Amino acid sequence: MISWAESWRLLERARNSIPGGVTSNVRAGERPFPLFFARAAGAIITDVDGNEYIDYVLGQGPMILGHSHPAVLDAVERAMRRGQLFAGQHELEIEVAEALVRLIPCAEHCRFGLSGSELVQAAMRLARAITGRTLILRFEGHYHGWFDNVLLNAATPIDQLGPRESPQLRLSSAGQTSSVLGDYLLLPWNDLALVEQLFAERGHEIAAVMTEPMMCNTGAIPPAPAFLKGLRRLCDQHGALLYMDETITGFRLGISGAQGRFGVTPDLATFAKAMAGGFATAALVGRRDHMERLTRDVNHSGTFNGNVISMAAAAAALAELERDDGAAYRHMEEIGSALIDGVRELASRHGVPLLVQGLPTAFHLAFTELSAISDYRDYIQHCDKERYGRLKVALLRRGVRVLDRGIWYISTAHTYAHVERTIAALDDALTEVDNQ
Ligand SMILES: Cc1ncc(COP(=O)(O)O)c(C=O)c1O
Repeated sequence: MISWAESWRLLERARNSIPGGVTSNVRAGERPFPLFFARAAGAIITDVDGNEYIDYVLGQGPMILGHSHPAVLDAVERAMRRGQLFAGQHELEIEVAEALVRLIPCAEHCRFGLSGSELVQAAMRLARAITGRTLILRFEGHYHGWFDNVLLNAATPIDQLGPRESPQLRLSSAGQTSSVLGDYLLLPWNDLALVEQLFAERGHEIAAVMTEPMMCNTGAIPPAPAFLKGLRRLCDQHGALLYMDETITGFRLGISGAQGRFGVTPDLATFAKAMAGGFATAALVGRRDHMERLTRDVNHSGTFNGNVISMAAAAAALAELERDDGAAYRHMEEIGSALIDGVRELASRHGVPLLVQGLPTAFHLAFTELSAISDYRDYIQHCDKERYGRLKVALLRRGVRVLDRGIWYISTAHTYAHVERTIAALDDALTEVDNQ
């Protein structure tokens, strides 16, 4: 029988000095309770009670090379011994920028920061400055960080969403000011006809369309075939910018991001999680003429931007991902596909409505009778999250760690042996959940 006694003891201790015992609200609701971890290497993470898990959480996505990747750690160690923060420029910044320019279709120039949330702010500011317009069109079920002016419609219950064709914008935290609601337009994702209609009415007011290029914060929903191309066309017709928030998809869906994978080039994009092997780094990239506004009247600053550790980690991680002409991605695609096939086979054998959707490096499991989840409303109305939460705990007890929200991430450190162990654990866990 697995024990989480030490995790529980630390959580109780943490609650005396940290609200809820957690340093990000996202972690507060994790089942069975927020666990404490001692170390992680490769695909395996170990908690403070000594339990080992095959990790599909991967730090919420960043650990795409697995935990404690030696090439990243060596690069960081070497670089940080020469200095950590110069409040001045250093060559590694150029190295990372040159890699992004080489790899990312829309990247002609780059700026660095530390988190996705931060650089979303820079992207929105730049888009508004370039177009002289205020409104940003965004989509239900997408998440663009926790900052005051952008945390809208996170986990909005179905009865507060309003009509599908004109959804209600809602603040998502006490303490936000309602003035920000006027800065956005909101639509369901993947419905180009609704976007066309809105552009016909208000296109001249829209500064940018802000989109996750594959929806990864609600399920794992790839774009409908013509959707991203349609957004590109509408933005061009109406003088708006297309901004892809690739915080999750960047370097996860491929070496050139979702924009490379889906063949649609935005004007601006932000990258964060998977670009630096688990170290805090994010990038805003875009067309040179747009990005050069940052040298004139658009401010983007930050004490820790481009710090030595982040840049050394990013340079090393990108080199690993680029190595051998995409071998890392071929491996992850194979492993992810094998796991997806195994899950589907088990679901059918158990006769349970367990839907797997997404792509091999980022896919989503949900108990639902739907044959596909196509937007936030499907997800909120038709997925049995309570049942999935029980499956999550049953998996944890069997040495497999996944996120409560259903998304699974694959790293280069996962192997066929991990897939086999995961499928065996899932087989057992499904039996337990079926019998509850
Ligand atoms: C698409 C997207 N944008 C922005 C963010 C915020 O990034 P961070 O948590 O690094 O601030 C996230 C975080 O998950 C995200 O998924």
